[in-house]
Amino acid sequence: MVVYALLGVVIVSVGLVAWGVRASGIVPMPSSRSTRQTVERVLLSAPGLDRVTDLGSGWGGLARRLARSGRFESIVAVELSPLPHMVGALLSWFADLPVTHRRADALSLELAPGGYVTYLSRGFMLALRERFEEQLPHGGLLVSVAFSMPGWTPARVEHAHDLFHTPIYVYEF
Ligand SMILES: C[S@@+](CC[C@H](N)C(=O)[O-])C[C@H]1O[C@@H](n2cnc3c(N)ncnc32)[C@H](O)[C@@H]1O
Repeated sequence: MVVYALLGVVIVSVGLVAWGVRASGIVPMPSSRSTRQTVERVLLSAPGLDRVTDLGSGWGGLARRLARSGRFESIVAVELSPLPHMVGALLSWFADLPVTHRRADALSLELAPGGYVTYLSRGFMLALRERFEEQLPHGGLLVSVAFSMPGWTPARVEHAHDLFHTPIYVYEF
């Protein structure tokens, strides 16, 4: 009986992750520890930044890391895929960390001034560029892991100390 229940949980979980990958085209792969350290350092060094949104937050590990720093007034984790969203929200709740988890399409959000983190795909960055240019011409910081914003010049590019020397593009606008 327990075996069937476990099997059911595994099948539903795999189905939910597969649905999310089909909907977004992106696997919920967490960023590496070194990438998170670098992203956190960049955000902590930005003067006056009190609001950070992780667009495509996966299982929420990066958002929780930022919450632990205690530096930001608001941390929002936006994830389209239902299972990573639910697990992320539960882990933040268990850890008693002030992360607001939203299951939403990052491309349909109202953008407010603040810091944004992405680790998505080139196609997503292109779509996001339109949103940023329409809604948020000034007053933002974008930290993009692995994928540059087509047509924009980064203020700087950092590299994580991981296997792939992952580039982290920093845009100020
Ligand atoms: C590579 S993971 C990054 C996870 C997290 N930011 C990190 O650094 O660990 C990208 C996540 O973006 C999500 N995603 C893809 N398209 C999205 C969209 N349009 N809106 C919200 N989330 C999206 C995927 O489901 C996936 O979980």
